[in-house]
Amino acid sequence: MDNDVLRQAPLFSALDDEAMAALRTSLATTRLRRGEVLFHEGDSGDKLYVVLEGKVKLGRTSSDGRENLLAIMGPGQMFGELSLFDPGPRSATVTCVTDAEFASLSHEDLLRWLEGRPVVARGLLAQLAARLRKANDVVADLVFSDVPGRVAKALLDLAERFGRTADDGVHVHHDLTQEELAQLVGASRETVNKALADFASRGWLRLEPRSVVILDMERMSRRAR
Ligand code: CMP
Repeated sequence: MDNDVLRQAPLFSALDDEAMAALRTSLATTRLRRGEVLFHEGDSGDKLYVVLEGKVKLGRTSSDGRENLLAIMGPGQMFGELSLFDPGPRSATVTCVTDAEFASLSHEDLLRWLEGRPVVARGLLAQLAARLRKANDVVADLVFSDVPGRVAKALLDLAERFGRTADDGVHVHHDLTQEELAQLVGASRETVNKALADFASRGWLRLEPRSVVILDMERMSRRAR
């Protein structure tokens, strides 16, 4: 298990080597293939997960079967803590969009771990606060922004986390289908395709299967505002 990846998780970033070594004895690893589900919305849950490798989508399904994606998470990102701090069923379904590996920590061990470690507890609170801030932004964008603006914002967010800068632009291998991208911005696939085609025709990006190359970051950032 890669310590560097674990340290990217706010929960573990402040730990010294000794504390990390102690923590590792409580961690288990799970490997899943692309398309497999780690847990379903509504399940009862007793573990928190950190992505070690790969990417997952966190989604919810409406009563008429439509899907909305809350987030895409990659290495160093953590999920599965809500059902501990606000006891109840899992609030989202977690599905692998690539082959993926996770470290898991039982809620019981996490609680024990937090006791007497205010720095770790603060890391967790910081992550929850950041997530609430982001969720507020998403709600505001749904109300105030148009679909192309939301698509631009989602691509920039993915670029920040999964992008690789090359000579021709920022290569963002997001591993999402256009349907999933649409579920992430809360719009129909047709509208999202149209926005992407428009960005491409303006020369702001190049579309590739399950990835984009952002050619003009400045224009994309302006469109996302
Ligand atoms: P839990 O409810 O245990 O299982 C699903 C997890 O998805 C949840 O814990 C959170 O860790 C995560 N999650 C729920 N809502 C969001 C959100 N809006 N953004 C990012 N992650 C979320």
